[in-house]
Amino acid sequence: MDPAGVTLRAAVLCLVAWAGLAAGDRVYIHPFHLLVYSKSSCEQLEKSNAETLKEPTFAPAPIQAKTAPVDEEALRQQLVLAAERLGAEDKLRATTVGMLANFLGFRMYKMLGESGSAAGGAVLLSPTALFGTLASFYLGALDPTAHKLQALLGVPGEDRGCTSRLDGHKVLSALQAIQGLLVAQGGADGQARLLLSTVVGLFTDPGVRLKQPFVQGLALFAPVVLPRSLDLSTDPELAAEKMGRFMQAVTGWKMGSPTGVTADSTLQFNTHVHFRGKMKGFSLLPELQEFWVDNSTSVSVPMLSATGNFQHWSDAQNNFSVTRVPFGESACLLLVQPHCSSDLDRVEALAFQHDFSGWMKNLSPRAMRVTVPQLVLRGSYDLQDLLAQAKLPTLLGAKANLGRISAADIRVGKVENSVLFELQADDGEQPTEPAQQPGGPEASEVTLSSPFLFAVYERDSAALHFLGRVTNPLSVA
Ligand SMILES: *[C@@H]1O[C@H](CO)[C@@H](O)[C@H](O)[C@H]1NC(C)=O
Ligand SMILES: *[C@@H]1O[C@H](CO)[C@@H](O)[C@H](O)[C@H]1NC(C)=O
Repeated sequence: MDPAGVTLRAAVLCLVAWAGLAAGDRVYIHPFHLLVYSKSSCEQLEKSNAETLKEPTFAPAPIQAKTAPVDEEALRQQLVLAAERLGAEDKLRATTVGMLANFLGFRMYKMLGESGSAAGGAVLLSPTALFGTLASFYLGALDPTAHKLQALLGVPGEDRGCTSRLDGHKVLSALQAIQGLLVAQGGADGQARLLLSTVVGLFTDPGVRLKQPFVQGLALFAPVVLPRSLDLSTDPELAAEKMGRFMQAVTGWKMGSPTGVTADSTLQFNTHVHFRGKMKGFSLLPELQEFWVDNSTSVSVPMLSATGNFQHWSDAQNNFSVTRVPFGESACLLLVQPHCSSDLDRVEALAFQHDFSGWMKNLSPRAMRVTVPQLVLRGSYDLQDLLAQAKLPTLLGAKANLGRISAADIRVGKVENSVLFELQADDGEQPTEPAQQPGGPEASEVTLSSPFLFAVYERDSAALHFLGRVTNPLSVA
């Protein structure tokens, strides 16, 4: 077995062990059981296999065609409704996919940090968007590409039999559930605390026809899928600019500058994610505050502050502390701060790894005043780069079999994930009163005024939606 396979096997073992823990005293169910094809759907597939060739196709509209702007509030309500309809099995499926996405997320986060492409050492990654993008390619892949993608997603199909194969639709609908569980905090009414919108731009060279079932299937993961055609090869730079402008016009989000187009590619897959979290009980401080980028440089940034009872843990042995700021019933922001900022790398390696749920158990309530920069972070990465670093450079290369995306031989160029991440005060709410703890210690101060790490976590899906490293609140990752 190759080294990548060994790591995978180890990760799978950890996952199985962890899923056992998470399930507590519930009856143990193999966590992948719910994600693979059932016997009956396998029989169905066998019958319809010949029909894959005849799947209906369409030519994407030209990029200059008029497109309605994205309505983020409508997307949120759609996700909330989906979350309200979830049954017990759907929730279990969401947890399994959530954990798989975390594993892949940690692995790719490490690659992204090591790649050094990020400005000033800042990193911003969405494990669920990354997992969803790869699961989308899985939906469009045939063997051997499908088999390799399945292994990368964390579920090696041992015997290659149909019932050990991932059902792409189940995976993508679990990702929809995961998104729904996050935004459902606070209910469907006007009090939206969290916004999470995912939009996929599927850009093809003119002449490429896409398969309808594939594009329709993506709608589970990304409620807005925009297949558009443009000339990708004559002037790649111009093409990149056009795609960037198109995505911004449709979404209204200012992302980083587009990273370009790979020569000779006929398909470019761009996933854009926007997150906005309003922090309950936090209010904007009237004056700008100092944030120390390193021990001799500071910048003035807007900061949010709240006093109240927070879950907190200070690891005296490893010299870092964690503070949990709730977004709602089951979602939270985890703030990880090294006691000494030159320790950021070491603390990151400790905090962002598969047994993070272990240290989360150490959190306990404490009266505190928490101050954190108001964040507007942008991050962008090309999955092809991360795959190359993970020693899988050809997985989505020229020879990839993506016969369910198009009948034509398509060549995948860049597979970009772009994230816009915003943290704001929750204007509608009065700051919570300081918690009264008779005889307890006085409220302690936690101020994130030097480089720190953060994660957005949702308990019911066990999913980490975002992982990030803030080295300068004003910079772009
Ligand atoms: C500032 O940080 C640099 C690099 O981490 C270190 O070499 C230097 O000694 C530090 N200076 C002070 C005054 O702590
Ligand atoms: C934590 O800090 C203490 C005191 O500065 C130091 O002795 C110890 O080596 C540090 N621990 C780690 C793991 O760096």
